[in-house]
Amino acid sequence: MVLDIQAEIKKFAIFFQSELEQYFPMPEGEEKRVVEAMRYSVLNGGKRIRPFLVAETAKLFDVLPEYAWRVGAALEMLHVYSLIHDDLPAMDNDDLRRGVPTCHKKFDDATAILAGDALLTYTFEILSHRSTHPDSSIRCKLVQLLAQGAGGFRGMVAGQMLDILAEQMPTQDNPENLIRRIEEMKTGRLLKYAIESGAILGNATTEEHNALMLYALKIGQTFQISDDILDVEGNQEIVGKTLNKDANQNKLTFVSLYGLDKAKEIARKLTDEAITALHIFGKRADTLSALAEFIITRNK
Ligand code: IPE
Ligand code: IPE
Ligand code: MG
Ligand code: MG
Ligand code: MG
Repeated sequence: MVLDIQAEIKKFAIFFQSELEQYFPMPEGEEKRVVEAMRYSVLNGGKRIRPFLVAETAKLFDVLPEYAWRVGAALEMLHVYSLIHDDLPAMDNDDLRRGVPTCHKKFDDATAILAGDALLTYTFEILSHRSTHPDSSIRCKLVQLLAQGAGGFRGMVAGQMLDILAEQMPTQDNPENLIRRIEEMKTGRLLKYAIESGAILGNATTEEHNALMLYALKIGQTFQISDDILDVEGNQEIVGKTLNKDANQNKLTFVSLYGLDKAKEIARKLTDEAITALHIFGKRADTLSALAEFIITRNK
């Protein structure tokens, strides 16, 4: 039977919605506005690719799924914070996210900033809780790696800084190198964490860990290239974001540098390399291989 990855992802996203809902009891008092904004942004759609990756990587090692779901939930909170802040007027200034008004449009700038802040701290509250894993050294490792992956020293925030600076940079000697750095940090690090956390929960061997890290690097780059391709030739109804933003904001991407055809060629090569990296797992990694194909063929 051929694996229908799109159906698998959809099924997981529906299941994961009810997982995420459990994290948002409604508090009392006027300050609950910030929780409303958090809920609004976390629970309104999204492909849930990062939690899916945590769960699928953990499956390779027969990890208790509940552990992977908690790590996935924590990572999704952090990812949504990054989206809320990415959309702010001072950053990409976007009105539409996941098919609905962005957090600051629905609420206001201050609430959106605070909702992002609160999701970021909630991430680490969830991750460090005993239910995430009984072994405190594993929990500590999970916390440390995510803090590094999300942060300002070669993490997601560093990538966002470079992405914004690159809009205004004079013509580069080596723009490809700059794009690769932006992609690797702003998008790659959180996707890498999704896979690495699964490997940590599963006590992967060094060989398995290295293979998964190579896979992660390749799909991270492909994920941003396909995001940039969708920005040009996607269907706005399906993508759920305002399109043609990158050209309008002078973003430096493989599409802006080389055009669509070459960007697709690069993404194809990266996808083949990602799948090759998984060969040591044999058929056990079929879903991860299919996910790499999904990333390059996705329409949202
Ligand atoms: C969008 O991520 C931001 C990037 C890192 C390119 P996703 O494409 O995973 O967005 P959602 O979570 O499905 O909305
Ligand atoms: C953002 O990249 C990556 C993040 C860290 C949020 P983009 O700015 O291209 O993401 P979209 O297109 O707004 O989702
Ligand atoms: Mg951006
Ligand atoms: Mg953006
Ligand atoms: Mg984009």
